[in-house]
Amino acid sequence: MNYKEALKHPIFEVIAKAASRLNLDAFVIGGYVRDHILDRGEHKDIDIVSVGSGIALAKEVAKDLPNHPKVQVFKTYGTAMLRYDDMDIEFVGARKESYNENSRNPVVENGTLQDDQNRRDFTINAMALSLSKANFGELLDPFNGIDDLDKNIIKTPLNPDITYSDDPLRMMRAIRFATQLKFKIEKASLDAISKNKNRIKIVSKERIVVEIHKILESEVPSTGFILLEKTGLLDLILPELTALKGIDEIEGQTHKDNFYHTLEVVDNIAKTTNNLWLRWAALLHDIGKAPTKKFVKKVGWTFHAHEFEGAKMVYQIFKRLKMPLNDKMKFVQKMVFMSSRPIVLAQDIVTDSAVRRLVFDAGDYVDDLMTLCEADITTKNPKKFNKYHNNFKIVRQKIIEVEARDHVRNFQPPVSGEEIMATFNLKPSREIGQIKDVIKEAILEGDIPNEYEAAYLLMLKKGMELGLKPVDKQIKP
Ligand code: CTP
Repeated sequence: MNYKEALKHPIFEVIAKAASRLNLDAFVIGGYVRDHILDRGEHKDIDIVSVGSGIALAKEVAKDLPNHPKVQVFKTYGTAMLRYDDMDIEFVGARKESYNENSRNPVVENGTLQDDQNRRDFTINAMALSLSKANFGELLDPFNGIDDLDKNIIKTPLNPDITYSDDPLRMMRAIRFATQLKFKIEKASLDAISKNKNRIKIVSKERIVVEIHKILESEVPSTGFILLEKTGLLDLILPELTALKGIDEIEGQTHKDNFYHTLEVVDNIAKTTNNLWLRWAALLHDIGKAPTKKFVKKVGWTFHAHEFEGAKMVYQIFKRLKMPLNDKMKFVQKMVFMSSRPIVLAQDIVTDSAVRRLVFDAGDYVDDLMTLCEADITTKNPKKFNKYHNNFKIVRQKIIEVEARDHVRNFQPPVSGEEIMATFNLKPSREIGQIKDVIKEAILEGDIPNEYEAAYLLMLKKGMELGLKPVDKQIKP
């Protein structure tokens, strides 16, 4: 089969000519070929394999390109990379590899194209297109990857035990591709993942996180998490999630399976937002339920303060997975911490003051919080489902109204601490905080508008109640 049309970009002609000058055969391999055949849109990373030195080929190619892009050489891996026209092009010499027990880094020997294809992760990633003059565009597909693409199957070229044990990151990749492409992982492969799961420990946390992100960014992320759970990988990577599994029953009372509920929430939110961190928040929103679960007589199952516990666990997870402990982490923490607030509103009559408090506490994240809470509605009772969704519509509308009127998002007190001190001739003291709190509460309750005049009068009133005397000249009408 010929795929010349995949090689229309002028870069392939340049690579072909450079390879011909060096008298070596070169091929496009991996994701570029796979995604072209799947018609998944342009794949920006191009992998070139050459029978002979990949580094030499990269340097030869750079000579022929406008502005001669810089070639980055990774000597230990025998690879080289250059950037051209917003594409990353990676060159590698075809190799036979054998892997070390304790590391993902292979011991490399030169080999043929077929040797190289043998050592790739999946049949669908081992397909190569020739860049040689004689058969430009010809598909070289020794493991019939094209058939697996057609049948939507993830399968390894060699015995899966070897492929996964060689490079355990591939276990995560298999699950990630199955999720992204909506493919099935072949049974033998799935069994091999379960068997080799413990080898995930030699993979760096950063690489694991890249795969989790790709799963979370997929259309139906639950596919990946269910596979991770089934194979036992999830317990090694995110045990906080597997701890949510199961339903307990005491005195005839049960609670929902919070693991599958969580996955439903993640799938729901994937339909409404591409914000990766909001998707993380959905994944982690209930993790505090495992450590806080209790059965209380006459009350039933409780998960008291699970949001608080969950927010603490977010930090521990991010730290353990070597994810940045920055504003993204704080955002996820805040979402988890506040995740039950809107649903409480939606169960009841929605009052202005409750909405004002929500906006005050969530600040700029109030819309994201609403998106999370809407995704959290997984009840199978259509009456409740409609009621909650309708109430959320009211809450969203009220947020807009309250905001327009009261401006409590990123609340700044209308009367400052300095002004309170000057009015009552005070040094820094407890009373200042008390007066500020009374003003804030009155605004949130809707007793006074969020305006200077009203706040000033309340300050005077509260100050005098506390036995303070205003300095005469400071009193304003
Ligand atoms: N590969 C492999 N084993 C790995 C990683 C990569 O065999 N652990 C091979 C596969 O042939 C893969 C190619 O290297 O197709 C390029 O890898 P990469 O760029 O990571 O993935 P892509 O397949 O291009 O897919 P994506 O960009 O979606 O990650």
